[in-house]
Amino acid sequence: MSSQPAQCVAARVQPQSLNEGAGSEPLAADVKDTVDLEESGPAIEFSAQVPLPDYLQQTYWWAYIHPASVRVFERQWLVNLILWGNFARLRDLALDEIGASIQGDVLQVACVYGNFTERLAQRLEPDGRLDVVDVAPVQLKNLKKKLNGIPRIRLHHQDSTNLGFADASYDRVVLFFLLHEQPETARVQTIAQALRVVKPGGKVVIVDYHRPSRFNPFRYIMVPILKTLEPFAMDLWRKDIVKWLPDRAHSATVEKRTYFGGLYQKVVITR
Ligand SMILES: C[S@@+](CC[C@H](N)C(=O)[O-])C[C@H]1O[C@@H](n2cnc3c(N)ncnc32)[C@H](O)[C@@H]1O
Repeated sequence: MSSQPAQCVAARVQPQSLNEGAGSEPLAADVKDTVDLEESGPAIEFSAQVPLPDYLQQTYWWAYIHPASVRVFERQWLVNLILWGNFARLRDLALDEIGASIQGDVLQVACVYGNFTERLAQRLEPDGRLDVVDVAPVQLKNLKKKLNGIPRIRLHHQDSTNLGFADASYDRVVLFFLLHEQPETARVQTIAQALRVVKPGGKVVIVDYHRPSRFNPFRYIMVPILKTLEPFAMDLWRKDIVKWLPDRAHSATVEKRTYFGGLYQKVVITR
């Protein structure tokens, strides 16, 4: 457990086993990152060694990369509409799994439009700490503005498939609507990395899409939407998340619940 104010992180920890489950080139231990200390709010650690993944540039440029994307999508009502009015419920399902009040170290893998991170940060006790990772600098800058004045948070420019944190360094890791955006190879690596950095006995909390029941009208409404805009999301309809767990996670316990007629799922993996 550690208690520390928002600060710059000058060097990465690069454990030997870092690349287990990772697909890209390892980050060099001595990479000198630039640290954005401008304005108030948490510092952002940027790295020239972290390129944007192809799927983000090709499939999701309009949602997360284009300079106008933040202006368009950073609206609480819009993220709620995209989740058919379920944003607050799904957010709180994930946050309650992390804790009503949070002590210890939490890692949020990927930024989210809306108030997910603010609400998470509000639950931090004085000995709680939050690290947030995203691969898109524009998203980290947007999050920094939203977190202005909230202490004990650090923002890291990293790829979820190759996290630069030591093994077993977090009590909780949360992945909120990230896995459906990733091609299968990246998804497998992201899950492996989340399990690598969580402590034994710690939890990886995943909230994402799921195949709705046959009687749920959203099953039919969502097919053309997802196939057009989020082509990898249908993987989560076809396959259980547990199928993407690495072999070495065989001793982990996995709890799954579905919501909104099965369109959404929460999966909690206890390592
Ligand atoms: C977590 S999803 C959240 C989607 C959600 N619907 C929302 O409202 O924001 C989107 C974020 O994931 C980030 N992301 C996608 N692939 C990533 C990766 N490989 N590593 C880190 N962040 C990634 C994107 O840059 C984006 O900020």
